[in-house]
Amino acid sequence: MSAIETWGEMVRVEHAQSDRMRGERPADHWSRDAPSFKANPHRQGDPVVENLRSRLVPGETLLDVGAGGGRLALPLALTCSSVTAVEPSPSMCAVLRETAREHDIQNVSIVEAGWPEAPVEPADVTLCSHVVYVVEDIEPFVRKLDSHARRLALAVVFQFPPQSQMYALWEQVHGEQRHALPSLPQFVPVLDELGIRPEITELDAQPVMGFGSYEDARDAIARRIYVHPDTDAMSRLDRALDQSLTDAMSRLDRALDQSLHEHDGVWRIDGAQPVRPCIVSWQPTSP
Ligand SMILES: C[S@@+](CC[C@H](N)C(=O)[O-])C[C@H]1O[C@@H](n2cnc3c(N)ncnc32)[C@H](O)[C@@H]1O
Repeated sequence: MSAIETWGEMVRVEHAQSDRMRGERPADHWSRDAPSFKANPHRQGDPVVENLRSRLVPGETLLDVGAGGGRLALPLALTCSSVTAVEPSPSMCAVLRETAREHDIQNVSIVEAGWPEAPVEPADVTLCSHVVYVVEDIEPFVRKLDSHARRLALAVVFQFPPQSQMYALWEQVHGEQRHALPSLPQFVPVLDELGIRPEITELDAQPVMGFGSYEDARDAIARRIYVHPDTDAMSRLDRALDQSLTDAMSRLDRALDQSLHEHDGVWRIDGAQPVRPCIVSWQPTSP
């Protein structure tokens, strides 16, 4: 199997497992979590923003694909002449618009569409941060990131899949191995097959995901592994797998008793691996 086929297969298998546990896919996957992607565009000391900014020439144009709530698009708009933010999620677009308005940032235009289909013009620099993990058809996605960059293409990708800190709990609750999404180790061979030779910069690992209380941790983890009463997963599990919400929640509680601990007021999953963001950069293959 080629690297591109392996990538597609990993995404397909992970999504099929998620669908089986969760039930119907929500129309807007980000409606609940979008507010957590709001960040002050003027913040200092964010290593990803600082690294990306150091690669931009003031006055350049930027195309941010999967811009989310504008965590990167808005601070980088302070350096660029204009930013086009491509983002299919209405709730993420709402956060982006609201934050741009609050900080009076007027040089960001939003294209509410997915990639690669979004109708946009090329830019000096293309950027795609923490999006590729869920893209099944990776070849046209990357080819358009490449062909729409006049000077530089940038991707921010974790060394491990973003939800990997939950995989052990998934196994304890669902009784089956969690299929992993692809991340940096699979992305580099995909680029290689497309004739792209990237430069990779590893940034410092981010602290393991932490929660302010046991209840917040339990709620967030239950959602991410699809055993939360608000999702339609449990009614579906009742029918399809003869399991109940109560059973699954008790398994989660037993697992959390053993592996969720508080230190200095922050609750974390024992043994969770910190994730390290990497900046993947390349010169467009046909400038
Ligand atoms: C984890 S968020 C990252 C947001 C932002 N780039 C950041 O780093 O804060 C992933 C975003 O990618 C978007 N996304 C997912 N598939 C996409 C696609 N095919 N085209 C464009 N955006 C996509 C989602 O809607 C979501 O806003």
